[in-house]
Amino acid sequence: MHSIQRIGLLTSGGDAPGMNAAIRAVVLAAHHYQIEVIGFTHGYNGLINQEFFTIEASQVHGIINKGGTLLKSARCKNFYHEDGIKQAANTLIKNNIEALIVIGGDGSFSGLLKLQNHWNGQVIGIPGTIDNDIDETDHTIGFATAVNTAIDAIDKIRDTADAFERVFIVELMGRKSGHITFNVGVACAAEQVLSFENFSSENKNKKLVEIAQDIKQAQDNCHSSYIIVIAENLWEGGAHQLAIDLKQVTKTDCTACILGYIQRGGSPVAKDRILATKMGVSAIQAIIDGKTNVMIGEQNNEISYAPLDQVIKHKKQVNKSLITAQNNILAISAQTMNNKAKN
Ligand code: F6P
Repeated sequence: MHSIQRIGLLTSGGDAPGMNAAIRAVVLAAHHYQIEVIGFTHGYNGLINQEFFTIEASQVHGIINKGGTLLKSARCKNFYHEDGIKQAANTLIKNNIEALIVIGGDGSFSGLLKLQNHWNGQVIGIPGTIDNDIDETDHTIGFATAVNTAIDAIDKIRDTADAFERVFIVELMGRKSGHITFNVGVACAAEQVLSFENFSSENKNKKLVEIAQDIKQAQDNCHSSYIIVIAENLWEGGAHQLAIDLKQVTKTDCTACILGYIQRGGSPVAKDRILATKMGVSAIQAIIDGKTNVMIGEQNNEISYAPLDQVIKHKKQVNKSLITAQNNILAISAQTMNNKAKN
């Protein structure tokens, strides 16, 4: 069997805590099998613009606990055009790269599939995004840290919300999915969780009245704070507009707070470091085993391999039991608690 000598590695799309841990694992595993790792910088731009360097094992020392990515990341507009993809493929051919590992989200995996039209090397995806919206893996690298960061921030906001008896609206990242919003909302005991999975803009006015009634009930029962977590891109005009819309109905001041990019940064939590390490090592083993066109996932605590074209077909949905628990049990129980306090 032909032994692999040189592979490429890049990080693409939104950076996620744990990407460095994955880079480290890939480089150390490759080093173990005497495979050279060429790191392309700034996502797919590095392939097009020929920006790369050999990553030595010594360079990944001390990065497991660092946010961001040693290889830099970017979204690459040129990769939407055939010319860009051909240039990228030429760089791989010219530099004798036999396999390419991309750490990123589903957009990055679509890029890998397109590359296959012009280059015959093995392609492996590792899911790295705070959004957790990738199918065929229970979790993506970065999600756990982003959730913890947001929980930490909202626990602090709760202190002010309690002290000032205020309504806060906290907007969370996730692009078009509610994994972060639902998990954080439940973990912070948010009074309202508003996300793609339980809200549609056709019911906007009905929802405003419903929330207003709930806020009123909470105020009547001396519930000192009220926190609404909302997914970004859900409400037209975002959290600031929701604050304005709610004030019109409730006549109460509502404070909007957009957590934004702090969710993408910071030292990865243990879960992300470990997941990234397992996935990085498995990616190298997959290459040695001759696998291609697969994403490394983890399902039920076991490493899995899913075809990339399958992975990009669907977005992973938020866990149903979490949505049901929030919508039908937690939110309702909080209301019942209020009613009991009143009587
Ligand atoms: O995909 C990660 C993410 O942080 C999303 O949650 C967010 O919508 C988006 O990236 C922001 O992208 P950009 O960094 O291009 O502003």
